[in-house]
Amino acid sequence: MTPIRRDLLPDSAAVDPAGRLSVGGCDVLELAAEYGTPLFIYDEDHLRARCREAVAGFPAGVAYATKAFLCSAMARLAFEEGMDLDVATGGELQVALRAGVPARSLIFHGNNKSAYELEMALAAGVKQIVVDNADELDRLEELHAGGGPTVKVLVRVNPAVEAHTHEYLQTGVADSKFGFALEGGVAAAAVDRVKASSAFEFGGVHAHIGSQVYATASFAKTLDVLAGFAGASDAAELSIGGGLGVAYVGDERAPSISDWAAAVHEAVDRLGITARITAEPGRSIVAAAAVTAYSVGVIKPIAGIRTYIAVDGGMSDNPRPVLYGSGYEAFLARDASASREMPVRIVGKHCESGDVIVANAMVPDDVAVDDVLITPVTGAYGHSMGSNYNMVLRPPVVFVKDGRARLVVRRETYDDLMGRDVAVDN
Ligand code: LLP
Repeated sequence: MTPIRRDLLPDSAAVDPAGRLSVGGCDVLELAAEYGTPLFIYDEDHLRARCREAVAGFPAGVAYATKAFLCSAMARLAFEEGMDLDVATGGELQVALRAGVPARSLIFHGNNKSAYELEMALAAGVKQIVVDNADELDRLEELHAGGGPTVKVLVRVNPAVEAHTHEYLQTGVADSKFGFALEGGVAAAAVDRVKASSAFEFGGVHAHIGSQVYATASFAKTLDVLAGFAGASDAAELSIGGGLGVAYVGDERAPSISDWAAAVHEAVDRLGITARITAEPGRSIVAAAAVTAYSVGVIKPIAGIRTYIAVDGGMSDNPRPVLYGSGYEAFLARDASASREMPVRIVGKHCESGDVIVANAMVPDDVAVDDVLITPVTGAYGHSMGSNYNMVLRPPVVFVKDGRARLVVRRETYDDLMGRDVAVDN
């Protein structure tokens, strides 16, 4: 198998004549030695470039979906590049605020926002709330009756569009927990209710059809479905959500953010939609910006079956293969240009057979214990969906740029693990 495809790596990734990988001008083996493994390495310029591309593609406004990857440095970076931030829980809201992002740049999401979370969002003064259901409208009206402010809301509509992606990643099909159904006039009734209430300022409509969607036609289809509704409800803003897919392996190709924006605007023009078009990408901003560096701990050939390579992380830093059967590539940091001839299964250190990072990987046949193994395109929904399963310590995150590394999330410690544990007398 050929060496790793360059466009699966961060923009600034380089391979020296000896095959050693660097990102952001930093040698990856040196980063691994300095910060330890597993380690998330993000190319800061790549992140900034994708944010700028999104801002250029959606000049009426675009929010970074923080669920894909969030820490103070990322929140600040997206804000500095002109993006709003989509926060979907009280926790994401807190991180964004504590990172210094002004509330007027925050869009509050979620399908089950508690009264406490809503109160927090109102008190902070978020830009708008994307309302999902009638119970949430009740809660907001109660808060308003108790002296809360009038809040600008977008009504999240379920357009019943089947996006081309994994079943678990579809959110806009009829049988979904998200949004007000377009069917049966449910969404129209929600808009009427919002318009009639002094608790709300009606901002417009929102739809999000799913994630890891390659087909820009799925977004155009959503606009087809929503055009009439947005017009009839006099929506000033129409958000098409996030969901643009990225390439992870082999010969996968995904549209760029600019391609996505162009397809959306083409459909908007064709349909004569007059609302302001906004979007909220997560994955396409951060996924390919990062690689994960692991150390190889065990190489176990099982005669006649396969060879297992165990690394020092696993489903606690990347649960996507377990959850969605997602594929990844793997290669060695010391020789990124080596051809990969040895079939292996790369697994983690958790006490579970399903703890697989790459089910069917090809690696160079001189792979050895202590090698630093890289999985690219791990910048989205890896760190953010990480866990402490088996009390494994969550990895640090570094941003690299112009030959310098900046630690933005430190490695978890055993004291952190005990931080919430209420000690028993002994
Ligand atoms: N807006 C809303 C309302 C969303 O629910 C999401 C993602 C986004 C925007 C951003 O979507 P993106 O551009 O990142 O696709 N854990 C899964 C992905 C779950 C996506 C959840 N919502 C995964 O690892 O593939």
